[in-house]
Amino acid sequence: MKTNPLLNFNKLACYHFKIFRIFAFWIQYLFMLPKINPTTLPEWKALENHYRNRNIHLRDCFLQDAHRFENFSITTPNFLFDFSKNLVNKETMTLLINLAKACELESCIKAYFGGQIINETEERAVFHTALRSTDPRFTVTGGKQMYAEIQQTLQKMKAFSRKVIHGEYKGYTGKKITDIVNIGIGGSDLGPKMATEALKDFSSGLRVHFVSNIDYSQIQSIFEKINPEQTLFIIASKTFTTQETMTNAHTAKNWFLNQGGTKEDIAQHFIAISCQPEEVEKFGIKAENRFEFWDWVGGRFSMWSAIGLSLMLGIGPENFEQLLRGAENIDIHFRETDFSQNIPVIMAMLGIWYRNFHHATTHAVLPYAQNLDLFPDYLQQADMESNGKSVDRNGEKVNYATGPILWGRAGTNGQHAFYQLIHQGTTLVPSDFIGFVKSHHTESTHHEKLMANFFAQTEALAFGKAEREVCNESTNTKLIPHKTLEGNKPTNTLLFQELTPYTLGQLVAIYEHKIFVQGAIWNIFSFDQFGVELGKVLANTILDEIKNEKIGQHDSSTKGLINYYIQHKNQ
Ligand code: F6P
Repeated sequence: MKTNPLLNFNKLACYHFKIFRIFAFWIQYLFMLPKINPTTLPEWKALENHYRNRNIHLRDCFLQDAHRFENFSITTPNFLFDFSKNLVNKETMTLLINLAKACELESCIKAYFGGQIINETEERAVFHTALRSTDPRFTVTGGKQMYAEIQQTLQKMKAFSRKVIHGEYKGYTGKKITDIVNIGIGGSDLGPKMATEALKDFSSGLRVHFVSNIDYSQIQSIFEKINPEQTLFIIASKTFTTQETMTNAHTAKNWFLNQGGTKEDIAQHFIAISCQPEEVEKFGIKAENRFEFWDWVGGRFSMWSAIGLSLMLGIGPENFEQLLRGAENIDIHFRETDFSQNIPVIMAMLGIWYRNFHHATTHAVLPYAQNLDLFPDYLQQADMESNGKSVDRNGEKVNYATGPILWGRAGTNGQHAFYQLIHQGTTLVPSDFIGFVKSHHTESTHHEKLMANFFAQTEALAFGKAEREVCNESTNTKLIPHKTLEGNKPTNTLLFQELTPYTLGQLVAIYEHKIFVQGAIWNIFSFDQFGVELGKVLANTILDEIKNEKIGQHDSSTKGLINYYIQHKNQ
């Protein structure tokens, strides 16, 4: 019997496709992150032993080593990183770096910058670094060169921003735009909001407002400040389905229509930043007014993408470009510097030292710049949504601590609130102090006092006040234990020349990479956030129950609370 040659060809094609799939499957696994329980490593055990035998007081460390500052600090062209006031000696640092190596951090970094699918649970790359790369070698993911596409969106953002800033983009009555309202939440809010506030000395002249909370009070207070004819709303949402953002977006649209705008005017006053073109169109936003980004940009790392449009409008495209350049500078440092001199790696490993060996539960970030007051809020999402995990990459419950509670506030306000606990409380709070040599105002008396406090605090935390010093000063012996400050409280200091778009880019990138390194050591998936999903789903169910005044299946507490609400809401 004669066989059909086409059939043979099909069979062969199927066979080759199968082989290709098997090959692709294994290639994918080849690039996946290592899955090592760090506590099983001899390097971990060595740190445990080292911790048990330690007897370090920072007072002695500095007495014993006249060059401790030089030995435990790194100077870059525009900032200084001092980690000498940490509870470490040279051996500790060596052991910590050994642990990083044993956890195959080097291959993790390669996979990260190589655009590999390291967000395995969501099957995506983690590739925000590509958004700030001027080197096309670091913009390839899934075999695709993204450089041109990234630049195209960036150029579109810049052209649009220039038009708005220079008053060429007009509102529906022909007036220039004066106010921008960014509507987004989480990563679609915190980064641009923090950076707009941090860089307000670089303002383009446009007023930028941020709405995130579903609580109407927030958007209401913004409506009171703006004129619909001169306002541009940016709906920033990767998914374009987030309840808070979409509710606020529809409220803004209705407000706009009630204030005199027409349906046709919406296209001119509403811009979208999203990966979901169909949803954007349904909302009534023109296709050309959608700014695109990619699923490999995680929400909490998205300020470098089109999500940063509100920021670009607020500070101008040139300053935004500087922000990208600062971040890229740290990307290069992180990628290329030996771990022993690598700032994000050192910060991360010190964090591991305190979290896993000293059992510190929190970490404070204390910027001595009022404009950086929102920096700890921003970092809370970046860090806690990433490393607040208790299941490892093998799907096993971890038997060690992961991400700490991160918090903080601008100095000196924090000094008059919670510093007492850091100085004399029973909890160890490792802290990062962030300061700037120059300020943007001319009131040097203020800045000198601010900086004097900045230096005084890390000194007081490290060295405290010994009992004999208190005895020399006080005649009341009862007060001696109360006035004694143990010291030995660890701090890092990041001292930059100036708070500029470039240095802010550096600062944010340092913390992004620190978070990455810690996730690598803890063997967790840092780039998903399943923990926040359950609450969202339950809220939707409960919303229906509230609307229908019919409560479904819940525990007695939740039922009792909803019941109380329904009974009293109309009274
Ligand atoms: O908080 C959960 C989260 O998914 C964040 O990761 C994200 O930044 C935020 O919600 C907003 O999501 P979206 O940009 O899709 O509206």
